[in-house]
Amino acid sequence: MILDGKALSKIILEKIKLKVEQMEKKPHLAVILAGDDEASRLYVNNKKRTANALGIKSTVIELPSDVSEESLLKHIQELNEDKDVTGILVQMPLPEHISREHVVCAIDPLKDVDCFTPENVGKLAIGAKPYFYPVTPQGILILLDYYNVELDGRHVVVIGRSNIVGKPMAHMLLQRNATVTICHSHTKNLEEIIKAADIVISAAGKKVVRCKMVKYKSVFVDVGISRDTRGKLTGDLNWEDDFENFSDVVSYFGRVSPVPGGVGPMTIASLMLNTISCQAGEYPAILY
Ligand code: GUN
Repeated sequence: MILDGKALSKIILEKIKLKVEQMEKKPHLAVILAGDDEASRLYVNNKKRTANALGIKSTVIELPSDVSEESLLKHIQELNEDKDVTGILVQMPLPEHISREHVVCAIDPLKDVDCFTPENVGKLAIGAKPYFYPVTPQGILILLDYYNVELDGRHVVVIGRSNIVGKPMAHMLLQRNATVTICHSHTKNLEEIIKAADIVISAAGKKVVRCKMVKYKSVFVDVGISRDTRGKLTGDLNWEDDFENFSDVVSYFGRVSPVPGGVGPMTIASLMLNTISCQAGEYPAILY
């Protein structure tokens, strides 16, 4: 069966829209986009478009790729102090001369809709409730919950150790009593580890997994987004070597998320949930 993030995100966005309609003061998401990364620009436009369609205010601050760190930090400070702004998102990656650490430390944890600040990440790591859960891992858990995928006691292999997906995903899964293994580019026996998993969550950004590396009828969540040589969007799963049609892939797995239409739309829905939760006074962010 397909883990249909596109369909579920539509349901969630509809609910958010109704909730925003009832709010006297509308949430306001401020996004900082530094540099000219094409993919980042597309993601930011998508976030802005979605927010606006739900009645959420949004502001995008575009800064050139040679913006100084000092200037970027000043923009964050202004957004922290702006009473109208309820959520702040600094799109990653940043230009190389800017310290990610300095940037995430500057964001007000109460407006940190990405869960990037040390306070929120630290809370997540000690099993306390952050003000916001990280958007992609939260979106994945909402998707798995919706399809009744049991996590308690299951062996989940997370591929990728990024601060945005892999690490926070592992913390959230531990909190749900899963047995978690994190694999990354230096992992030696990836295939053997994947084979032992009940659930694989792959956020490598490269086609590192073939269908038959994964146990039959296990769950596969594909977080990867890249373009193949023909410009088609693909995930981390290299299914073309084992199967002719995606429908055969769907029958092989217990559940599988497609790219596009799986984790991507759930990440946006999850960000919107975080954005409205700071207005509704629901600290920490609601898990749908
Ligand atoms: N770049 C890729 N994914 C993300 C995300 O979830 N948040 C931010 N701020 N930047 C990103």
